[in-house]
Amino acid sequence: MIIRISRGAGDKYDEYNVKVSQEMTVLDILFHIQGNIDETLAFRYSCRGAVCGSCAILINGMPLLACKTPVSRIDELNNVYEVFLPKEGKVPEDGMLLEPIPKLPVLKDLVVDWEPFFEHFRKLELELKEYSNPPEKEYLLGKDQVRELEKYSNCISCALCWSACPMVGDVEGYPGPAALAKLYRFYLDPREPGNVGRLYFANRDFGWWACDFYTNCRKVCPKGVPPNIAIGKAQNQLKNEEDKK
Ligand code: SF4
Ligand code: FES
Repeated sequence: MIIRISRGAGDKYDEYNVKVSQEMTVLDILFHIQGNIDETLAFRYSCRGAVCGSCAILINGMPLLACKTPVSRIDELNNVYEVFLPKEGKVPEDGMLLEPIPKLPVLKDLVVDWEPFFEHFRKLELELKEYSNPPEKEYLLGKDQVRELEKYSNCISCALCWSACPMVGDVEGYPGPAALAKLYRFYLDPREPGNVGRLYFANRDFGWWACDFYTNCRKVCPKGVPPNIAIGKAQNQLKNEEDKK
């Protein structure tokens, strides 16, 4: 199979002829190329088990995790990810096109600089602050609370939703779906004092209100996180807070 890979800062492509099996993941293919054909090829990975988020790339234009995508699933995914498919002719016939995720600066080949994505995590202070009434032992949450929190805390910060969101890059300062979903997750956390104040961190035209609900974030998320739902709920909560005044 011909594997066409974006090289350098995205200014050219190299092609590799690789014998692939259906069971191989795209990350396996990258290892094969780097180990046997071209040791200069740069890509990122860590866990190899869809946990760290670092192998996020475009596979035939689709934002996916390389370690979670076996060759056997790519045709089937073409139907699900139709909206992301690149122009005809870019994907080699009977081959595969691998590119870095868009909307982040390319450092080399498939490796991007995540700083513009994580910058918003810092700005929105996405970490647990002090407990309101610290318990002597564990802080126990109810099953429903855990279920609701888990929807959003399953995020692995892979930036696939960032790369697929039309508002990122279009609206200056927009924190992106993942940061907003995490902000909502901390608002939900009952361990924080006055956590409704959290929602006001992004109560701006370029915050919660910039989302146009394309729902690409939810479609591409490899962990089933629904940032669009978090954003909608946050908007409703903020409207309720205004009505109370
Ligand atoms: S919400 Fe999903 S797609 Fe977005 S960064 Fe988190 S895990 Fe990745
Ligand atoms: S290598 Fe960690 S998510 Fe793919």
